[in-house]
Amino acid sequence: MMSQILAPKGAASPQFHDFVDTRHGPILYLEDVSVSFDGFRALNHLSLYIDAGELRCLIGPNGAGKTTLMDVITGKTRPDSGEVFFGQTIDLLKLDEPAIAQAGICRKFQKPSVFDALTVFENLELALKTDKRTWPTLFSKLNGEQRDRIQEVMLLIGLAGLKNQPAGILSHGQKQWLEIGMLLMQEPKVMLVDEPIAGMTHQEVERTAELLLSLQGKHSIVVVEHDMEFVRSIARKVTVLHEGSVLTEGSMDEVQNDPRVIQVYLGG
Ligand SMILES: Nc1ncnc2c1ncn2[C@@H]1O[C@H](COP(=O)(O)OP(=O)(O)O)[C@@H](O)[C@H]1O
Ligand SMILES: [Mg+2]
Repeated sequence: MMSQILAPKGAASPQFHDFVDTRHGPILYLEDVSVSFDGFRALNHLSLYIDAGELRCLIGPNGAGKTTLMDVITGKTRPDSGEVFFGQTIDLLKLDEPAIAQAGICRKFQKPSVFDALTVFENLELALKTDKRTWPTLFSKLNGEQRDRIQEVMLLIGLAGLKNQPAGILSHGQKQWLEIGMLLMQEPKVMLVDEPIAGMTHQEVERTAELLLSLQGKHSIVVVEHDMEFVRSIARKVTVLHEGSVLTEGSMDEVQNDPRVIQVYLGG
């Protein structure tokens, strides 16, 4: 069934995104997922459903399984059991890491990896041209539509004024936004964002909150973050992980007042 939907690896498949079927359910569907490392259950019968366009915050004490969960969604780690679907029809357990990225699930790691010697514009241009959904076009000229897209993303990440500046002069926060912009060039359906505000100034944190809020609706975003004040500022629905399972889900107020959540955070 998958072979009808998936283009062969490396082939151009710009229409692929359109096949993510969310008409009757979530965009990410994890059911009863378990992952063991040497007998230790990092994920333990975890079930999680993310709706299309949702901005979901994922919290939980160290070791709760947050990173492992992202590893499972992106294909880096294979679960021992359970189901992981992208929309109704795409079984992520049948795809490898590059195919999952190509399908429209991207991940923002903590450390920014922009190219310091290239300008803001060039970094975004490179992200567009190395988009694995299209044939390599590294040496071709940008068309108008592509220029518009770069401009749109520069405005979104607040770096339009620094368009011709080398990324090397950007602040830590600006580099993080540029990297988010580079991911956005590929128009991902789902963005997984691991601790986006680590090392940012207060102002940068506020701007990052605005940026993530502005992306919801068009993209589904899962944010892992420890800073509760930040989570509160962006949170719609919050999922609390503990010992590899979902402990509870709800609004920030609901989860913060949940005695079980208080217990795992205070009781360690
Ligand atoms: N590759 C691995 N090998 C062994 N144990 C691992 C590995 N990755 C994660 N773990 C363990 O799984 C548990 C969950 O880890 P992780 O997903 O990183 O939690 P979190 O991101 O919530 O802090 C931890 O106890 C961690 O030590
Ligand atoms: Mg982690």
